[in-house]
Amino acid sequence: MKRFNIPLCTTLMLGVSTFALHAEPKTNMLHQWAQGSEAEAIAVLGETFEAQGGTWSQTAMSGHTSATLAKLRSDVVSGNAPAAVQLKGPEISEWTATGRTANLDDLATAEGWDDVVAPELLSVMKPEGNWVAAPMNIHRVNWLYSSKKMLDDMGIEVPKTWADFNAACDAIKEAGKTCIAHGAADWSDTTTFDSVVYGMDIDLYRRAFQEADVDAMRSQGMIDAFAQLRKMVGYMDEGINGRSWEQSMAMTMDGDAAFFLMGDWTVASANLAGYEEGVDYLCNQTPVDWGGTGYILNADSVVFFEQSDPDYIEGQELLAKIIMSPEFQVTFNVAKGSIPSRTDVDLSVGGFTDCQQQSQADLVAAVDEGTLVRSMAHNMTVLQKYRGAMMEVITEFVADDSITPEEAANQLADAVELQS
Ligand code: BGC
Repeated sequence: MKRFNIPLCTTLMLGVSTFALHAEPKTNMLHQWAQGSEAEAIAVLGETFEAQGGTWSQTAMSGHTSATLAKLRSDVVSGNAPAAVQLKGPEISEWTATGRTANLDDLATAEGWDDVVAPELLSVMKPEGNWVAAPMNIHRVNWLYSSKKMLDDMGIEVPKTWADFNAACDAIKEAGKTCIAHGAADWSDTTTFDSVVYGMDIDLYRRAFQEADVDAMRSQGMIDAFAQLRKMVGYMDEGINGRSWEQSMAMTMDGDAAFFLMGDWTVASANLAGYEEGVDYLCNQTPVDWGGTGYILNADSVVFFEQSDPDYIEGQELLAKIIMSPEFQVTFNVAKGSIPSRTDVDLSVGGFTDCQQQSQADLVAAVDEGTLVRSMAHNMTVLQKYRGAMMEVITEFVADDSITPEEAANQLADAVELQS
């Protein structure tokens, strides 16, 4: 590996192009996409990076975002900060404040990112006004996948409100079938609860999950939301422990359960497994009691930590350029189930599914209606320490039916207060 004795600046992009003749772009990206459709989607990035002359390596952490964040922390502490890391929401801002991340402004200006990136993402990617993250996509969290076969057999419509949902599940349970396919894990339990709180009371969602307002957490609205979650656990089968989200998806798409609540990475996994939209499954927003378009947003992005090796610095520039290119935004997002972070990509061509096109249309509608929120479950609102504390309470509530909704609401607030 070549080493240069040249002082490095924190604004790495374009500022390092003087090295371009000498450096050989390399990267090692830390991320959470260890298997299935997620690993296949990130492989697209690796292949593109290599096709453009780079040497790609990756550190993929199973165990959802918490495991990736823990690895990032220990790598930085041991003086081995990753050249590139998948990072989200307020964690981007937190790590930027350490002064260890690269400033992407030169590249962003040269490529006009401000004009093409979805406005909803700007404050996340530019927490202090400078570009520090390259957004890969927009995921919608509040999707309800229905088994077309089971709904047709039972003569049930896709539910639009939580009362409709409960009525559908009562009928399905009465017929001896499983209503909700679920795999218990802190993040998947919390994904379900994101949709419940949001769909029941959008104002409560904003106060409790975006602003971490502990009074909102102790409120009657939150108790009601936990009561709805308790009801929903009763609509699941006995096998939720140890079941992956992909297995839960398959249960619904094979007609063994009516509904599956999960983000649109499901679309990617369904495509990979050969399930067909409109035939095996339907995709609709999770129920809302306030009659509008619901959109809970999650976005994956990449942050670059300062490096001293010019090969890795050059690799950061190449990686950021690739991520933001319209071509990559198409191939990656078709493979990931999400939609591009750029607004100038036409989703009617390139292989995007109807669910993905619906996501884009609903994003526009939700912005218009003022109903867009970011996902607590997917690290887009509060810091990991608060999210982790809330997830523990929610997952414990799912696992232990002796916990009452009142107790859970108080535990949620207590857990967050303890972290403050
Ligand atoms: C990530 C997605 C991932 C999903 C399921 C989300 O938090 O943003 O990229 O596919 O979790 O693992």
